[in-house]
Amino acid sequence: SLFTVPNINKLCLAINLFFFFFQYIFVGIVMSLMVCFNQYKYIHISSCIVLFLVVDLESPEETEEEIPVVICAAAGRMGAAVAAISSIYSNTEANVLFYIVGLKTTIPHIRRWIENSKLKEIRFKIVEFNPMVLKGKIRQDASRPELLQPLNFVRFYLPLLIQKHEKVIYLDDDIIVQGDIQELYDTKLAPGHAAAFSDDCDLPSTHEMVRSVGMQNTYMGFLDYRKQAIRDLGISPSTCSFNPGVIVANMTEWKHQRITKQLEKWMQRNVEENLYSSTLGGGVATSPMLIVFHGKYSAINPMWHIRHLGWSPDAHYSEHFLQEAKLLHWNGRYKPWDYPSVHTDLWENWFIPDPSGKFKLIRPDS
Ligand SMILES: *[C@@H]1O[C@H](CO)[C@@H](O)[C@H](O)[C@H]1NC(C)=O
Repeated sequence: SLFTVPNINKLCLAINLFFFFFQYIFVGIVMSLMVCFNQYKYIHISSCIVLFLVVDLESPEETEEEIPVVICAAAGRMGAAVAAISSIYSNTEANVLFYIVGLKTTIPHIRRWIENSKLKEIRFKIVEFNPMVLKGKIRQDASRPELLQPLNFVRFYLPLLIQKHEKVIYLDDDIIVQGDIQELYDTKLAPGHAAAFSDDCDLPSTHEMVRSVGMQNTYMGFLDYRKQAIRDLGISPSTCSFNPGVIVANMTEWKHQRITKQLEKWMQRNVEENLYSSTLGGGVATSPMLIVFHGKYSAINPMWHIRHLGWSPDAHYSEHFLQEAKLLHWNGRYKPWDYPSVHTDLWENWFIPDPSGKFKLIRPDS
């Protein structure tokens, strides 16, 4: 025949299944009854179309899941948070709510930066962190004072920051996201796990990097095994460490296990007994997390946390590998807004200049 009508029954079934999977179960069942058991072709077609329209009009916007993403904006490196946020926003259709955490003195700057750039379209809350909460909990004699930045500890206090969401993402500022953040948000947390992290031994390319720059990727690099308190934990020093720069966390479970209290306890004990390795590979916030979450975390897809880009000015990943990566992290000393640094172009793609002109990229020709 010249004209063919699409097979209505199959079409209706397909539409029903479509809505079923989008949780319009009730409407789906009604449609099935009214449409697919109908004998008459015309009613058949019209009811199918009408119901489709009704359902479409009624589909409530608020069913779209909101993804809370926590990022800190620290003085002197605010451009990092801006690049991270812009990369996330540009690569997703999801409804992201940014929690931008700063100190009292830095908040006006980040607010102006967002409101006077294309980032004004993002949904965000600016939250002030009161560093008084850390009093007596951090040692002042670390070899890298920049790691004592109070904002490094914001991740310990996530449930105090996020009240209306159960699941949250925390990201360090020295990252950019190349994939759709929804994928990271969909990371499954096993029952009883309050968080997911990327393991430091997860990818062969990471092994190469670790070998080439002589990096620690075990607990030995973070904890001082000469101390009895550390040996008493019964954690083998060769256990693979994880990087807490990218976290997917469950606030219900976090509160239930009193994770914040446990982390504070290990901060306090470090002040009293100096328990952490003096080389402090990954920063002072890492060691307490390694202790508290030992054996109790889920895994983040390794491509969602490609690390060590800031470890050495000589460390390089292949272009192909970096293209596949969903999230890049310049952990280490060599930051992409500074010089020297590696794979800087991938970061600078997302950077938005400071409208106030205060934050400047350090480049060899500048
Ligand atoms: C979070 O943890 C609670 C308590 O264990 C659990 O009931 C809930 O399903 C978890 N939510 C997610 C998103 O994993």
